[in-house]
Amino acid sequence: MPVPAADTTWERLRAAYDPDAFLQQGGRVVAQLAAYLEGAYAGKGPVLEPTDPNELLGALPPIGHAEPAPGEFERLLGEVIAQANHVHHPGFIGHQVSAPLPASVLADMSSALLSNGMAIYEMGQMHTAMERRVLQWLGGQIGFGEGSDGVLTHGGSLGNLTALLAARQAKAGYDVWTEGQRGPMAVLVSDQAHYCVARAVQCMGWGAKGAATVPTDDRFRLRPDALEETLKQAQDDGRQVLAVVASSCSTAAGSFDPLEEIADFCEAHNLWLHVDGAHGASLALSGRYAHVLRGIERADSVTWDLHKLLALPALNTAVLFKDGQRSYEAFAQEASYLFDDSAPKEWFQVGQRTMECTKRGLSVVAYTMLQSAGTELFRANVERLMEVAHFLADEVEASDDFELATYPDANILCFRHVPKASALSPTELDEHQARLRTALIQSGRAYITQAKLRGRLWLRTSVQNPMTSRETMTQLLQDLRALA
Ligand SMILES: Cc1ncc(COP(=O)(O)O)c(C=O)c1O
Repeated sequence: MPVPAADTTWERLRAAYDPDAFLQQGGRVVAQLAAYLEGAYAGKGPVLEPTDPNELLGALPPIGHAEPAPGEFERLLGEVIAQANHVHHPGFIGHQVSAPLPASVLADMSSALLSNGMAIYEMGQMHTAMERRVLQWLGGQIGFGEGSDGVLTHGGSLGNLTALLAARQAKAGYDVWTEGQRGPMAVLVSDQAHYCVARAVQCMGWGAKGAATVPTDDRFRLRPDALEETLKQAQDDGRQVLAVVASSCSTAAGSFDPLEEIADFCEAHNLWLHVDGAHGASLALSGRYAHVLRGIERADSVTWDLHKLLALPALNTAVLFKDGQRSYEAFAQEASYLFDDSAPKEWFQVGQRTMECTKRGLSVVAYTMLQSAGTELFRANVERLMEVAHFLADEVEASDDFELATYPDANILCFRHVPKASALSPTELDEHQARLRTALIQSGRAYITQAKLRGRLWLRTSVQNPMTSRETMTQLLQDLRALA
């Protein structure tokens, strides 16, 4: 391609930044997305069009192989939409991401345009103030007092790592951050915890045994009576145990660990209590469902994903510390070219409390939505998702050809189809679930996941989208029966 003359390059650049062109293009894209949403809500088309990855890649030209053309941007967005897993489709009952509120996406867009990185206050003044307000509000929902603080991060995995780094610094008994670790450490965590907890301790160099596994009960909840034994085993193994990580709730089965008993244990043994509430902390918003979080106010730290049950776009996670000063212990980095040493632990020093340096304006999305749509809307969303999940649980329980793994406390449900009058071996029954799931996804009528619990395979739904209704669930069971 010939190199354009300098003035042509400038003209091109200026055109690409032109506000009028942005207005026109923005109008077209919003119209495209609004039409998409209308179709998705109406259940138009398959939830997911499963496509072979190599076929998809092969059909996508390498960058630089096409001449920039008018309309290309919208055409490409159309292709992305066509291949998406449609989270606004009522039949999306799969992974734990929300169907974002359309307005929250506009907030996200404005955050992207302003591109204020938030590493320091000057690079995101209002972003920083909004982050404080969001954290205060979330802290209040789980019973943390005035002194609580924290940080917003990109995702629950990073959130859990952040909290565990603070736990290590708080409980090690020496300055691990500066000196490095003197010996192997561990946290106690149930066999149902999300893999990111093990990943976090392995990132900290504790190895696989750094996540000492506590067995669970018949409802997949951590067994408090087994904590003592697991602690002793880890200590006998030469490890310094620092914390218990409780799941509120677990990923596969949606089970809530008993926080009161775990908090008693932590108090008795001077351990940090971290609650992984990535999925379930949002139940705190509902008087009807919050009882499963009883004791969460006794945690030292809590991770809470706003992109799971609070209808915000991924990713948007709060890491909350009951004692706000602890939030500075995860990362005690000095950087004179960036951080203001004269006010090292003020609330507005966001960049000192997260792994991220430049960070997207997550707070802008959360604050503008909570304030403009009203917190009540978010409570209503949580309750709607829970009601529909419980409807499915009741239908499964009442049927003679489906069974539940356990009655759900969250909007996550594991169940399976058990063909009538046929004696399948456990392995055949597992294979039957896997086949059913594949067939269901290929039919395009719904998208669900699967999970192994105690070695057996279950179909798994997580109701994430308020467009998913009781009718969707009745239809889901009918579809599964027909495919079986
Ligand atoms: C309990 C729990 N913790 C942590 C995570 C990880 O969160 P993220 O995907 O936001 O990193 C998940 C994700 O599903 C989860 O269910």
